[in-house]
Amino acid sequence: MNKKIEIVYSTVDGHTQKSCTAIAEHLLAKGNTVEIFSLDYFNQSITDFDVFVIGASIRYGYYRKKVKRFIETHQKELEQIQTAFFSVNIVARKENKNTALTNPYFVKFLKSIKMAY
Ligand SMILES: Cc1cc2nc3c(=O)[nH]c(=O)nc-3n(C[C@H](O)[C@H](O)[C@H](O)COP(=O)(O)O)c2cc1C
Repeated sequence: MNKKIEIVYSTVDGHTQKSCTAIAEHLLAKGNTVEIFSLDYFNQSITDFDVFVIGASIRYGYYRKKVKRFIETHQKELEQIQTAFFSVNIVARKENKNTALTNPYFVKFLKSIKMAY
């Protein structure tokens, strides 16, 4: 495998960051190179990575505005590499709302960004 992977997160109380660490440990164990950054401080070139992962939590029904801004600002670069997005929210505990196609926040978010997926 051995890919260069970047994981960025938007968190308030640190739960999403903690999830990033768990994901990173798993990917490192598989032989990849992994970096984790807060979305607030990431300032590298996205296309320097093979894979780019974004994790964000929901507060009062929404991801923080900077998540959408980041994706739209870097859309061209993100579309050139492999990407993934994971969503942290309490509603996802419900079995019928815990996938990318069924989680209402994620579905709404995808519709709000003009990006191929
Ligand atoms: C003030 C507050 C508002 C929240 N609003 C929602 C919400 O509207 N829907 C939801 O599913 N989860 C909601 N949650 C749950 C958070 O998404 C969950 O606690 C998450 O783990 C927080 O991650 P973070 O610490 O990375 O921000 C809320 C949590 C808090 C503390």
